[in-house]
Amino acid sequence: MLAAVTLFMFVCFTATTNADHHHHPCHTPNITGLMAVMSLKGEVKACGAFTYDSTGKKLRFRSNESHPVNSSIGLDILMFFDEGIFYEIDSKNQSCEKKKLHCTMHPLDIPDDAKFYASMTTGSASIEGEGLKVNVWTGGFTDSKDHYSMSVTMGCLPVSTLYFFEATPFLFSIMEVEMEIKDPDLLVVPSYCHGQPLEETPEGTINSFLHEFI
Ligand SMILES: *[C@@H]1O[C@H](CO)[C@@H](O)[C@H](O)[C@H]1NC(C)=O
Ligand SMILES: *[C@@H]1O[C@H](CO)[C@@H](O)[C@H](O)[C@H]1NC(C)=O
Ligand SMILES: *[C@@H]1O[C@H](CO)[C@@H](O)[C@H](O)[C@H]1NC(C)=O
Ligand SMILES: *[C@@H]1O[C@H](CO)[C@@H](O)[C@H](O)[C@H]1NC(C)=O
Repeated sequence: MLAAVTLFMFVCFTATTNADHHHHPCHTPNITGLMAVMSLKGEVKACGAFTYDSTGKKLRFRSNESHPVNSSIGLDILMFFDEGIFYEIDSKNQSCEKKKLHCTMHPLDIPDDAKFYASMTTGSASIEGEGLKVNVWTGGFTDSKDHYSMSVTMGCLPVSTLYFFEATPFLFSIMEVEMEIKDPDLLVVPSYCHGQPLEETPEGTINSFLHEFI
């Protein structure tokens, strides 16, 4: 399924660059859902559940250990984009690391400076219930030639985000989205993380949601 989505994005990119009425990207509402992260070298990096508070700019992602793949990584992260910090949590041995966030870009929300690319329908536009209409937004990174492409539904629910990193492109697929925060506790720093000192960032390291998978 992931491969199909990717192929679709590549093949159809030149399809319908029509409307110019979408000047400003929409913003994702509060959502809960599943996320699959795949490098386009063919590695599934992680599959798991996320909770996103779009008002408070908080994101929790926990990879599901029932979906182990050889290249997958066990991850439990809680990010506070406004504060510029995040926690890497290990709930099994109740430990955590608190780190500085250097880049707030993530695959669930369209950056404000993204450019509208196109509207298109996956599946069928003419058969009721068999199509999904998406808006595609694109943008770049200030410090490199890398760029991204994000697809969202008409209601601004994220569908997929493709990061065209020169080294390895990454695809984030979003599924089973619900427009609510089902478990608000997931966005609260666990008590065993309280008082955790901020880790020093090693020279040359960049911390961001994306970098957790690279
Ligand atoms: C999103 O969730 C947060 C935390 O539960 C809440 O404070 C905020 O009002 C919600 N935003 C919307 C638009 O519902
Ligand atoms: C992990 O995946 C399994 C199988 O798909 C599912 O039953 C389970 O609820 C998932 N666990 C979490 C924490 O998402
Ligand atoms: C993962 O690697 C092990 C040994 O390196 C191998 O036996 C196993 O088949 C691999 N599993 C998958 C899903 O690739
Ligand atoms: C917790 O467990 C992980 C591996 O499961 C280990 O790397 C880490 O050092 C442990 N932390 C503590 C404080 O024991």
